Amino acid sequence: MSTSATQAHHTGTDRMSDPNWWRQAAVYQIYPRSFYDANGDGLGDIKGVTAKVPYLKELGIDAVWLSPFYPSALADGGYDVDDYRNVDPKLGTLEDFDEMAAALHAAGIKIVVDIVPNHSSDRHEWFKEALASPKGSAARERYIFRDGRGENGELPPSDWDSVFGGPIWDRITEPDGTPGQWYMHIFAKEQPDFNWENPEIREDFLKTLRFWSDRGVDGFRIDVAHGMAKDLSEPLPMKAELEAKAHGTDGFADGSHPFWDRDEVHEVYAEWRKLFNEYNPPRTAVAEAWVHETRRARYASPEGLGQAFNFDLLQSDFDAASFKKIITDNLVAAKESGASSTWVFSNHDVVRHATRYGLPKGGSVAQGTNAAQDVTGGTKGQDGKGWLLAGAPAEELDVELGLRRARAATLLLLALPGSAYLYQGEELGLREVSEIPDAERQDPSFFRNPGVEIGRDGCRVPLPWTAEGSSFGFGAGGAHLPQPEWFQDYAVAKQEGVEGSTLELYRQALRLRSDLQTDEELEWVETGNQDVLHFSRPGGWHTVTNFGSDPVELPEGEVVVSSGPLESGKLPADTTAWIVRNS
Ligand code: NOJ
Repeated sequence: MSTSATQAHHTGTDRMSDPNWWRQAAVYQIYPRSFYDANGDGLGDIKGVTAKVPYLKELGIDAVWLSPFYPSALADGGYDVDDYRNVDPKLGTLEDFDEMAAALHAAGIKIVVDIVPNHSSDRHEWFKEALASPKGSAARERYIFRDGRGENGELPPSDWDSVFGGPIWDRITEPDGTPGQWYMHIFAKEQPDFNWENPEIREDFLKTLRFWSDRGVDGFRIDVAHGMAKDLSEPLPMKAELEAKAHGTDGFADGSHPFWDRDEVHEVYAEWRKLFNEYNPPRTAVAEAWVHETRRARYASPEGLGQAFNFDLLQSDFDAASFKKIITDNLVAAKESGASSTWVFSNHDVVRHATRYGLPKGGSVAQGTNAAQDVTGGTKGQDGKGWLLAGAPAEELDVELGLRRARAATLLLLALPGSAYLYQGEELGLREVSEIPDAERQDPSFFRNPGVEIGRDGCRVPLPWTAEGSSFGFGAGGAHLPQPEWFQDYAVAKQEGVEGSTLELYRQALRLRSDLQTDEELEWVETGNQDVLHFSRPGGWHTVTNFGSDPVELPEGEVVVSSGPLESGKLPADTTAWIVRNS
């Protein structure tokens, strides 16, 4: 390639020591239990990641983000942590982790791990101690215990709902056998919320962050980063009162909600930032914060976590005007906060984008999801959307259209300035698995919302590595969630070396991306067609996406990759092309 951008290409070693490595990194999310099972027990494991380092290297990503691999009963897929400084014995050992970290680093790949600070699991030794200790004890002060309302404390302290459905409070039995206090859990009842006003909790998380940083972890993804800080002064407002206080669709965009997105949470992150900056290069962090867009920058500030997810594209239809607005707004916001933007279409919580885009236009998000999560504990405030849970109505799905659009969207995403977050299996073009029998489902959102929520299992089905064999090469045992027959067509082995396959498209695009990437500027080029987006990056890198239905002329230059074949030199519907032009 004869562009000046080629000279900006970093060698692997440069990138590893560059403190800004994260700003435009391609980060691949691994859901460890469903990635690769090295010991044949049906569950993916740490050794499974190590075994697939060559695959990850060949894919061309800069970092992996590992969803929780800590000891857990899996009440919420590992987001119910028993012990923050260990590896789940079902997944391996700390030695396995060190081996994996060394192998990833040797391949030039950074490691990001998930930290779950809002809640532990109910099997955490501190929660067990709290249950065994009397009301008012120091052990109870690590969590959020309250007396119930009513004559005998038989009513929960407030009528708030948990995110997974059902009440946010659960009543315990006191050590003497009598019905006792209530504890708060924003998520499942197996996930009691920590009391972040307690210095012991703060100290312990600093210890955890240091523990993993010392083990070579390069960055952290912070789960529910907008939780933690709470104002639970009595009397607690009831749901109706909260609803009345929410400001229309903006919800609580002023930090006044009792437990979402309160300003005090940033004091915690300021402390974490000091710790991160003690390392060289500084450890990075990205906030999972479903907050109003005007509040996101606080999480992304260099004095705080440094980067925050924006889920705007993920919540958008495949639509030119909507994509353009989201991209423009987020680039401005990222610049203002000093962070780089983040882009994501799929993760372990949402219906895969190859399915979302295959549903009738104008309704792909709404129809691909059931009850979108209410992130405000019952008030539909903040962004009023939250997660996109549940499966899609299979009969309305146009599989081919969904994949074509997903490929076009991804090629667009990979050309944007900022970090690209990819979710395991999307590089194979996987769509949501909708055919999981109820009896085999695992997600708490399914169990807590009978007949309403299908849950998130459909995007967590173990990957197909081979077209045949036990669990399509996932491991020598079965797969912990059932894989459909059609997985065989998407197996890695079926796509490797096959021109035009989704896997080869990702590989080619990721390779080119790291060659073409320069600074974080983007310029829109007017196309005269509202269904066609065209932007350029410094160094003559142009990206054109056709969201319309007729083929369009491409601008001059060399087409270096396209998400689908061109038609007589034109860009067909639902297709993206990268063009390099010597400028
Ligand atoms: C967000 C995680 O992404 C999700 O999977 C989990 O259920 C909740 N946080 C609770 O930890």
